[in-house]
Order: sequence, then C-alpha cells, then structure tokens
Amino acid sequence: MKVLGIETSCDETAVAVLDGSGGDGSESRPAVLAERVASQIETHARYGGVVPEIASREHLRLLPPMADGVMAEAGLGWRELDAIAVTAGPGLMGALLVGTAFARAAGAVNGVPVLPVHHLEGHILAPGLEAELPAFPFITLLVSGGHTMLIRVDGLGKYRLLGRTLDDAAGECFDKCARILGLPYPGGPAIAALAGDGNAARFSLPRPMLKRDNLDFSFSGLKTAVLYAVRELERAGGMDEQARADMAAAIETAIAEVLAGKAARACKREGVTRLIVAGGVAANARLREQLADVADAQALDVRLPSPRYCTDNAAMIAYCGLLRTASGIAPPDEWDADPRWPL
Ligand code: KG4
Ligand code: ZN
Repeated sequence: MKVLGIETSCDETAVAVLDGSGGDGSESRPAVLAERVASQIETHARYGGVVPEIASREHLRLLPPMADGVMAEAGLGWRELDAIAVTAGPGLMGALLVGTAFARAAGAVNGVPVLPVHHLEGHILAPGLEAELPAFPFITLLVSGGHTMLIRVDGLGKYRLLGRTLDDAAGECFDKCARILGLPYPGGPAIAALAGDGNAARFSLPRPMLKRDNLDFSFSGLKTAVLYAVRELERAGGMDEQARADMAAAIETAIAEVLAGKAARACKREGVTRLIVAGGVAANARLREQLADVADAQALDVRLPSPRYCTDNAAMIAYCGLLRTASGIAPPDEWDADPRWPL
C-alpha cells in the first residue's frame, strides 16, 4: 500500500511516499520510499517568527516540484498511489489551503482518495516510523512551537487531552527567551548550542506549575523572569559570554525539568508506563537527559523519535494515512482545512 503524505501547516514544506507493505514486512512498519523537507526558517528568521503570508507563497512555490520529485524518486506514477494524506489542520489557514488544494487536485485528476490528517496525530504516531509503536495505552508529551500537551492514547483515533499549556508553548518559550538573549529564530536550537558549557545553577528561574498537582503547563512567567534577570544584569554592567551561556543553560534546565516532571506525573496518575515524546522540542538534549532520569526513577519506557521525525515532516502524515487506510477507515465525505481543528 503506497501513500503520499503532504505537510504544509506551518513553515516546513514536506512530502513523503510510504510503502506500508515494505520495511520489515510487518503491517505497521512502513518503508519510506522517498521524502523531502524544505525548511523556510531562513526566509522567516529576519522577522523573528513565521510570517503567514510568506509561508503560503513559499509552499505554493515549493510543493508542486517537491511532490513530483518524491514520486519520481519512489519510482511511482500518481495512479499507483493508494491514498494521498494531507495535513488539514491545525496550522496557518493559508498554508493549509496550499497543501489541501494541491492534494485534492492531484487526487481528483488521478482517481486517488485524499485523507485529511490532524497534524498532532502525525506527531503522536511518528515514533511508529522507526520502531514498533508501544502497546496502547501510552502517554504522549507533545512539545512543539505551537503546542505543549499531555495526551493519553488508547488506540488509533482515541486521544484524550490530559493537560496543556495555559499560555505559551514550550517551543514558543524557547523562541521568546532566545529573542531576549539576542539569539536568532528558532530559539530552541540556538539556546541549546549556547547552553553547551553553561552553569544552569548560577541563575534560579521558576519552574512554573511543577509543584501544582495538575497536568497543565504555563511558560509565560518563565519568559518574564528571564526578561527581568537579563535587564538586571545589563543594568549592572552587561552580560559577558559566560553569563549568557549560564542563562541559556538555566532556561533549558527549567523548561526540561517542568516537561519531564509533568510527563512523569501523567504516567503515574494514569497508571501507564509507556511515554512517547514528540514535537520539535523533543530534539532537546537536556530534556532527553531529564526524561532518562524520570524513566529510571519510575520504570518508564520512554520513546523519542530521532530529531528529523520530531520536527515537522510528511512521513508522519503519510503514516497516519497508511494506518487509517490499513484499518479500513474511509476518508470523510466532506472536509475542509481547519486552522483550529481540535484533536
Ligand atoms: O514541531 P516543530 O518543528 O514545529 C511546530 O511548531 O509544529 O517545533 C518547532 C519548535 C520551535 O519552537 C523550536 O525552537 C523548537 O521546536 N526546537 C527546539 C529544539 N529544536 C527545535 N527546542 C529546544 N531544543 C531543540 N534542540
Ligand atoms: Zn509540528
């Protein structure tokens, strides 16, 4: 079974072709026949964040040749596809429309069914691209630029939101703190690089909501604490390179401790021992260390996709389409791109 995946919800244009019968021969393990991801980060970096209008135009320019490219590389004609899976939300409306309009047109012309896929379901199931998915139920900590959520997964399409951020997402917090430190967008990788030999203990930053007995997050107070601390240091004579590295390490550690602590609490509360961590922030090395610690302490089985499947990609979208098609779930008769599609 061959599925083309298309992802254009934010600032990555991505396409991938998966073969569900390949890989190690088992039903659920797909083979990635071809995939491409074009990041628009450099285009948006000088504005300090994603500009929706520019994102749409870039998707429009990049998507058609990229789709032809992966089809050629996979050695497939369009009519040989069993399905086209496309991100239909949540995300930027204009950006989603480029992907969904392209998918619909290609599907109509070639007689291939088109499946709308929820972007977050893509992140939740992404670890299945590289290894067998853990048995249900499992908990997913989803940490990206726009989302920070704890989700209980009881089966394909059976997702229950356990907690979420009340304000900024973890990735957004990285991005905003990076801006305060004068670092480029996206802030997560920039802070991680600067934090390399920093001493996190030099600054005491808040661990928002960590002590609260719930599964929600809040990161805007951490960002404000960083802003005040940096202003204070600058008033007292400026920040040298060591102070900047120490601050970066303190930010990273605070975010990682909160995320790992709450994920561990979710597992305990739900009586579940399997934890998947997904989304761009899951690429963070300090978070991975913190997760290893809680995994040891609580005997958790923690799975993290490799960094390229943590960030936005189309293989995870194709994979959702593949699982749905394989389990006989038909595409809805009518659907539209929905920037606020709830999980
Ligand atoms: O999932 P993603 O690629 O895009 C969506 O938001 O859907 O996540 C992007 C976010 C950005 O906020 C970026 O700063 C953060 O993930 N990120 C990181 C790292 N790599 C990306 N945050 C911390 N450490 C990293 N190594
Ligand atoms: Zn994403």
